Amino acid sequence: MAAEQKTFYIDEDAGKDSEEQTGDETLPYKTLGYAVLTHTETPKFLVRKSLTGEIPEGGDESARLEWKPAAKAALKKAVNYAKTQQKKAAKEQEQIALRAKEEADRKKVLDEAKAVVIDEDKSLPEAVKIRLDDTDSTKIQLGDGADKKGTRVRVLGRVHRERRQKDITFVTLKDGYGFMQVLFQGNLAKTYDILTLTRETSMEILGELKEVPAGAKAPHNRELHADYFSIPEEWKAAGGEEAITNRVSKDQDPSVLLDLRHLALRGEERSKVLIVRDAVEYAFNTVYHELRLRKMSPPAFVQTQVEGGATLFKLPYYNEEAYLTQSSQLYLETCLPSMGDVYCIEKSFRAEKSLTRRHLAEYTHIEAELDFITFDDLLDHLEQVMCRVLEITLADPIIKQYVADLNPDFQMPERPFKRMKYADAIDWLVEHQIENEETQQPHKFGDDIAEAAERRMTDIINRPIFLTHFPFEIKAFYMPKDVEDPRVTESVDCLMPGVGEIVGGSMRMHNYDDLMAAFAREGIDPAPYYWYTDQRKYGSSPHGGYGLGLERFLAWLCKQHTVRDCCLYPRYFTRCKP
Ligand code: 4AD
Repeated sequence: MAAEQKTFYIDEDAGKDSEEQTGDETLPYKTLGYAVLTHTETPKFLVRKSLTGEIPEGGDESARLEWKPAAKAALKKAVNYAKTQQKKAAKEQEQIALRAKEEADRKKVLDEAKAVVIDEDKSLPEAVKIRLDDTDSTKIQLGDGADKKGTRVRVLGRVHRERRQKDITFVTLKDGYGFMQVLFQGNLAKTYDILTLTRETSMEILGELKEVPAGAKAPHNRELHADYFSIPEEWKAAGGEEAITNRVSKDQDPSVLLDLRHLALRGEERSKVLIVRDAVEYAFNTVYHELRLRKMSPPAFVQTQVEGGATLFKLPYYNEEAYLTQSSQLYLETCLPSMGDVYCIEKSFRAEKSLTRRHLAEYTHIEAELDFITFDDLLDHLEQVMCRVLEITLADPIIKQYVADLNPDFQMPERPFKRMKYADAIDWLVEHQIENEETQQPHKFGDDIAEAAERRMTDIINRPIFLTHFPFEIKAFYMPKDVEDPRVTESVDCLMPGVGEIVGGSMRMHNYDDLMAAFAREGIDPAPYYWYTDQRKYGSSPHGGYGLGLERFLAWLCKQHTVRDCCLYPRYFTRCKP
């Protein structure tokens, strides 16, 4: 007599696919697939539909509760499902076994590696310590891999990238000055430290510098064939979960990258921008000295405003109230009689309550003040300074390369810069149907041209623009009116494609009475400005100046989306860390 066929129950409504179920009538499964998968013998499967499903019209209410043999098609589907699941499980097992084997193999290799000890060969020539960008041919000779020996050098840096081949490990080392390709072969490649090398680990390497083989590429066309290296324990960078590549990557959320800016700065692009920044700052200093401007350092704690009360950072100052300076302009003006033309590179602070890509709460402000000039002199000087700064910056081949990497389309601006009066810009915006975003109406004379409209205009014109002669109502109190058109001031904004305004400047009101009238008009008490108004009492002069936002200049030069990436640790609305 044949053994009775075992029966399993599937209740598609109240059943459960889990190990606690036995599959009998009281503890049914939920799906036929699961039942087939867990019972490889070929039992009988009884299925009941649903306690809650629709009953066809005229149908029997009790039919819902009836157990019926599984339909053929459903059974076939379930068998296929079970087969795929079994295959998947088998594959997973295989993978687990493979990983276990790999781990065991790696452990064996690492255990053996721990026993590999390397010693420096003292018979080799003494190594010369160099930086990674050092190409001084008087001390460094490249070996050719045949009879010509290369200089033995000693370098210190961090692992930028590593690549392992069978018996050789390639490391790209970096030291903030450059990159170097380093090869570890023989016993060196078998050491525990090289086999477990993590990115950002610091190391000291000694070896011979050789030309790269024909067809291969490496920085400065050379590679270091290590003969010895050392990595003190505390020089090692975290690996695994904590590896730097897990903490900062290009697709990471921008706010996380800002929290981890101390690590993000190690990335190639971030560091290039800051190295270009150093070169640009140096170039400004050089140009100003060429033009005989003198560098001053005005105070950061002040008790007067320059650019409107809305963006002042107030703070207690002993028993008084003070602000963080918005601009050093007024102080620079006081230097003219004794120091001649002057400039400063200082921080300015603005309590901007907006999160735009070109506003910071703390930025580096390059400001200059020139004595006995006309408005045209001011514009000519500004154009000269900006172009000469670019010339000096790009004269350094490394910086030129960095700018090309960051901004491949960069071209020196065409001279002379386009000069456009505010009134003509209003006409231009009307013609190009760019509306005033506040009123949703065409722009009209007197409107403050908002950031977006200004940027659209600059991007379409696509060259630097000196936008001049703004109406006095929308400009700061110190700007003098144009004698030919008293509706406007002798003022200028320099606009750059991709960024918009990077410079704001003007002539300064130098008549005492005009200045006092301007204070009254703006409702500013002139008393705290006694030191500023006194300039108009003791030998006043036609003078003017400007302020350039270094981060905005860099955003333009290095094609950065935001000024936040153009300073070390950006400060802006809601961010004051790290
Ligand atoms: O146009 P602004 O406000 O002009 C002045 O402060 C003048 N007192 C300067 C002077 O004549 N000495 O600012 C000048 C420049 C702007 O063109 C812009 O590049 C930058 O400073 N700037 C900012 N950069 C980053 N974040 C901010 N919140 C900025 N505000 C101004």
